[in-house]
Amino acid sequence: MILRLLLNGKPVTTTIRPEQTLLSVLRENLGYTGAKEGCGVGECGACTVILGQRAVKSCTVLAAQCEGASVRTVEGLAQDDRLHPLQQAFIDHNAVQCGFCTGGFLLTAVALLERDPHPSRREIQEAISGNLCRCTGYVQIIDAIAACAAGEGSGEGQ
Ligand code: FES
Ligand code: FES
Repeated sequence: MILRLLLNGKPVTTTIRPEQTLLSVLRENLGYTGAKEGCGVGECGACTVILGQRAVKSCTVLAAQCEGASVRTVEGLAQDDRLHPLQQAFIDHNAVQCGFCTGGFLLTAVALLERDPHPSRREIQEAISGNLCRCTGYVQIIDAIAACAAGEGSGEGQ
């Protein structure tokens, strides 16, 4: 079957199998490998993308249900070789080590800041509760998201 998506703002079309997940289509059909397969069962958040306005675990979403949908991946965050402010904040706050989880955290945080530009630390904590990081720890990640929300560093809304 044919699947059409608006992927990071660009229309794409691909042929999918009915049982394919959105993660599988992104990685295997379209070559967007920023979404990682960690657990494959909705528990780690490494595969997180933004579907419409919502951060979703793409390993749990059937691609066939996404016909015509807007999907944003980590590849779409930087604009014109300029990092997204959240990406810069993650670097500034040492919130990245191996990076396997990072795309998922970034997209979860982007969706959070789009619906609530000034979340409390507790709200940040709740928002990222479905994302696991094995190496950095969560304090730096929360610091980075909070700093970006506060417009520190590279600045809010750039
Ligand atoms: S790979 Fe999707 S939640 Fe772990
Ligand atoms: S930076 Fe390695 S799992 Fe998070």
